[in-house]
Amino acid sequence: MNDNNRNSSDQPLADLDEWQDDVERRYPEPQDFNPTDPNKKKDQFRDYRADVRPSVKEFYRLNHIRQTVDFVRSKHAEYLPPNKREMSLWEATEVLDTLVDDSDPDTNVPQIEHALQTAESIREQGHPRWFILTGFIHDMGKMLCVFGEPQWAVVGDTFPVGCRFSDKIVFPEFFADNPDSKAPEYQTECGIYSPGCGLDNVLMSWGHDEYLYHVTKDYLPLEAQYMIRYHSFYPLHREGAYQHLLNEQDKKMLPWVKKFNPFDLYTKSHQRPDVQALMPFYQDLVAEFLPDKLKW
Ligand SMILES: [Fe+2]
Ligand SMILES: [Fe+2]
Repeated sequence: MNDNNRNSSDQPLADLDEWQDDVERRYPEPQDFNPTDPNKKKDQFRDYRADVRPSVKEFYRLNHIRQTVDFVRSKHAEYLPPNKREMSLWEATEVLDTLVDDSDPDTNVPQIEHALQTAESIREQGHPRWFILTGFIHDMGKMLCVFGEPQWAVVGDTFPVGCRFSDKIVFPEFFADNPDSKAPEYQTECGIYSPGCGLDNVLMSWGHDEYLYHVTKDYLPLEAQYMIRYHSFYPLHREGAYQHLLNEQDKKMLPWVKKFNPFDLYTKSHQRPDVQALMPFYQDLVAEFLPDKLKW
């Protein structure tokens, strides 16, 4: 997905998918393990940092120095509760599509295809309808781009602000230049939070996950809310960091977030979905759970 200022120094990624591609490289699909070359997977891990594209590295740098407590609070004040526009999910899909006008069709998968590929693989495995819907809508918070947010405030691995940044976050050294790294109250493991306070009480770096959670939370089961809200929280669901902030509900829901992740990461290269043929199923599914108009 492209955005308006793709070449400015503020917007280092050629498109938002460049971040997602990088995450896939960082966490290779387990089936990629080659039994005839058992060292392959190990090498991929060892080379990850060295091979990161400069544009992606710059994106992580901007994300890590600019996501502060003050920034997140300002975005909550601006966007929450969502009330900028009333749009159906389908209108939102169309608006998101306008962002891909100048994309390279050879390298860029339209957002609707990623949505359908994620949802269809969930469906193939016989999961419930709310789970399929979650796969279909999980990235629609990228609408933030349409509202003018820079890439580093739309995508990227998410992490708590207001406490010490974990060294399990990708490129943790960039946090040295985050102003919050100089605020004494944010330097302990729990920072402004208390142990076991629960993620709902934790300010997460601002992006498409947190935003879409607020747009859709009233219509989805708790499991789906967690999948949407924390699907980019790789430091937690892949690296096991921040356990000290979890409450009992978070611990119960974390397996669902983990269950969702492979559908998000590893379904891209599967065959391209027949959008027209699938539409009736998804129209019914969306109508079953979501109101005609959502507040964005
Ligand atoms: Fe996402
Ligand atoms: Fe996704």
